[in-house]
Formats: sequence, structure tokens, C-alpha cells
Amino acid sequence: MTEEHSAQWHDEPTDYAQIGKLPRFVAASADDGKAASVSSLNITAAAADPELLDLPWHVALEDWPAEYLAALPRGISRHIVRFAHLGGSVIAIKETSEHVARHEYHMLRKLARFDVPCVEPVAVITGRTTPDGRPLNPVLVTRHLKFSMPYRALFSQMLRKDTLTRLIDAQALLLVRLHLIGFYWGDVSLSNTLFRRDAGAFAAYLVDAETGELYPDLSTGQREYDLEIARVNIAGELMDLLDGGLIEEKVDPVATSELIMDSYRRLWAELTEKESFELGERWRVGARIRRLNELGFDVEEYAIKTTQNGSTIQLQPKVVDAGHHQRRLLRLTGLDAQENQARRLLNDMDSFRADNNPRMDEEYSAHLWVSQVFEPIVRSIPRDLSGKLEPAEVVHEVLEHRWYMSEKQERHIPLAEAVQSYIDSVLRHRRDEAAIMLNPPTGLLKILDAETEESRYGGDETIDDYPDADD
Ligand SMILES: Nc1ncnc2c1ncn2[C@@H]1O[C@H](COP(=O)(O)OP(=O)(O)OP(=O)(O)O)[C@@H](O)[C@H]1O
Ligand SMILES: [Mg+2]
Repeated sequence: MTEEHSAQWHDEPTDYAQIGKLPRFVAASADDGKAASVSSLNITAAAADPELLDLPWHVALEDWPAEYLAALPRGISRHIVRFAHLGGSVIAIKETSEHVARHEYHMLRKLARFDVPCVEPVAVITGRTTPDGRPLNPVLVTRHLKFSMPYRALFSQMLRKDTLTRLIDAQALLLVRLHLIGFYWGDVSLSNTLFRRDAGAFAAYLVDAETGELYPDLSTGQREYDLEIARVNIAGELMDLLDGGLIEEKVDPVATSELIMDSYRRLWAELTEKESFELGERWRVGARIRRLNELGFDVEEYAIKTTQNGSTIQLQPKVVDAGHHQRRLLRLTGLDAQENQARRLLNDMDSFRADNNPRMDEEYSAHLWVSQVFEPIVRSIPRDLSGKLEPAEVVHEVLEHRWYMSEKQERHIPLAEAVQSYIDSVLRHRRDEAAIMLNPPTGLLKILDAETEESRYGGDETIDDYPDADD
């Protein structure tokens, strides 16, 4: 590639102490002294990834040839967004202004440091021009979040009301986690969130940080304002789905959007509220810690204060980043799963230990569980079905399936039998969620296509035969 010779790589350090938004002058100074090399690509990335140079940066993103693109579902957006192959992985590319790209790049790096679920930034590329010298928009490159789905793709089959509720709970939890670290989102919506299945529920990830601002703390006013934005956006998004016949008629978009307020406030209170206990009720401290752990939060320290008359204790949990189960599973087994998945797997691992080797060292028993339960399940999934769900989710589902089988048949079900039954009666009938949608079902195609069109032309319903075929 000719570009290889004219690309310049920089690692622009993130100012983690920066409060609020990225100031404008940073963007301006990034090009200082490089204005002379007009046709030279300018790549800001933490690590130089030469494969990036194989992509056609001199072509407007809208016109990228299909051979570079990965046909995966994506949400509605104002900017042009495309997924492309990069080595063995997939990246998301968004054409935007230089300042926005840089702001988002650094914001995502800060969020990653706080361990909140969001997409991973890869690079900002500026200095793009067509071969005849016409300037092209800068891009933000992020890593495609594997197994994630924009909410509209979840609606390719009509979504049941309680699934919708779980989706909104996941969104509320994400918002709480962001607010706890002082992140004001400014554009909370289902479109700016990606969802992954997490042990039957959903895990939500932030995908669009364009409007985000980071502070040491948020005021109640800032949090409430973000929540209000969420409510209004979600109501609008649900109305669209209802118009498109993608949710049950009985779902009331406005009432459903209000669920996020309750869900958020309940979580926020559980995580931050001061509580007073009578001295004799110390057990409630433990109960509260367990509830917080269940929600996926760790409690680092409690301020326990004895009040004047000495009869009550005050409890103010200091919540640290989520991931209690995730970290325990990772520490014990090296498996990197999501929070709910990790919790379910750990439950199974704990009962495996209780049944088989209660006195055995926790680490060693975990190792046995991996080799005698986890790995055999993953290995027994036929290759042609292995893209359907990620391994931790498959194992979780198999364990659930086995439990239901034994309940129904009132007998112990050997693992091998449960796996076979799961493969035949459940897994075969699922659609793929890995490199999903290389052959999307027609229902989904319609949505994806409508979205692609909508995002560019505002709602045209033309349906092509492939989501990215016209790109
Ligand atoms: N890293 C990624 N992994 C998976 N999907 C992604 C990724 N980046 C972007 N997308 C998809 O592209 C869509 C649009 O991205 P994004 O929201 O950042 O664009 P936007 O134009 O800034 O949106 P808006 O209209 O809200 O300003 C997302 O909804 C998501 O479906
Ligand atoms: Mg967006």
C-alpha cells in the first residue's frame, strides 16, 4: 500500500485527570507542525497495528468495497458507521469530526480504566484524502464487541414483555455504574448501548461516548437529568418498535420507559444509601453485602459509626467497581465470563466442590471442575453449532437445562445426557450470535436494512438482500 509510507503513528497519552470533556485545543494541537504533509495519514493509537494500513482509508467509508466489510448488525446512528475485518478480528469505524473522534477515544480509554463495560478504542485516524486530494472525514476506530447486539437486532423475533424489562434493567445497571464513577452520559438511549446475553439476562455496554463528561462526582441534578434523557429516548425507541410491529401490542412505550427510573433508583439506593441498624441486627450488614454482591458489586469498606446513645450503627457502603464473581472466576479458573455467567458458574463450581471434595483446596477443586465439567461441555458442542453462543453462556445453559430435566424427570441426569439433550432440543434451534448474521434471518435483514437506510436517508424502507451489499 502506498499509504504505508506516508502514515504517521502517535500515541497520544490520555489525561486521566482531565475533568469534563476534552478541551478543544487538544484537537487543534494534535496537527501542529504536520499540516505540511497533507496526504499523510495520521494515526493515533496506543500500539501501532500495521494491518490498519491495509484498509482503504482514501475512500469515503460509505463507498468501501464489500470485501473489507463485515456484515454484522448495527444500530441507528447519525454518523456513517461500518464494520471491517482487521486481521482475525472485526473493528467498528465511525466517520466524524476530529474533535469528536479524539474526545470519544480518550473518554473510552478512561472508562476502560474504571472497568465499566464499554467498547474498546483502537485508533483515531485523520489526514484522510481521496487520491485526487479531496479531504475525507476523520474516523474513530473501536474494536467490535463480540457477541453484542444492538437492541433492534434483539427484536428480530417479537420480544416478550419480560425480556424487554430485563433489557431495561441492564440499561439501568449500566447507567448506575457509569454514574458511580462520575460519568455523565448525556445521550442515554438503547441505540447507544450494546447488549450481550448474560446468563439469561442481558449485560449492557456503552457504545457511544460522544456526549460523555467525566467528573470526580455527579450531583443529583446531573444524574436525574441523564435519567430523564434515558426515559425520553427509550420511550421514543419503543414507539418506533411498536410502529414496526416488533413488540407486543400490549406494551405501553411510555410506561415501559418509566421502568428505567424505578430500576435505576432502586439500584442507586441499594448501592449508596446510608442505613442505620440496631446493634442487635448486625446480621443485616451481612445481608446487605450479599445483596450488593448479587448485583455484581464489591464492597470495599463500610463506615460503621456508633451513634450518641450507642444503640445503632450506621452503614455507608463504599462500592467499588463491579465484577466480584467475574474476578473470582478468573482468579480460580482463568475463565473470563460476564458477571451473571460467572455467578452461575461459580455456584455450580461450589456445589461440585461440596459434593465431591469439600475439604479440597478451593483452587484445586476449581481446576477439577474446569476439566470435568466446563471443558467437556464446550468440547461436546459440534463445530457447526459452536458459533451460536459464547462458551460460558453455553455452559450456563447446559447446567440450567440439566436442572430442568432432573426436576421434570425426578432423577439425577448425567452430564453427557444433559449436553446431548441441550444440543438437540435447544442449541440447534438458536440463531448464531458469534460472527452473527453472515446469513441473517429474513426478519432481521429487514430491520438491519431499514436501519442502514434510516441512518443515512431517514427512514426509507427499501430492502436489499444483504445489509452491507450497497456499501
Ligand atoms: N465497537 C462496536 N461494536 C459493536 N457495534 C458498534 C461498535 N461501534 C459502533 N457500533 C454500532 O454502530 C452504531 C452507531 O455507533 P454510534 O452510536 O457510536 O454512532 P453515532 O453516529 O455517534 O450515533 P448517534 O446518532 O447516537 O450520535 C451503534 O449503535 C452500534 O450498533
Ligand atoms: Mg449513537
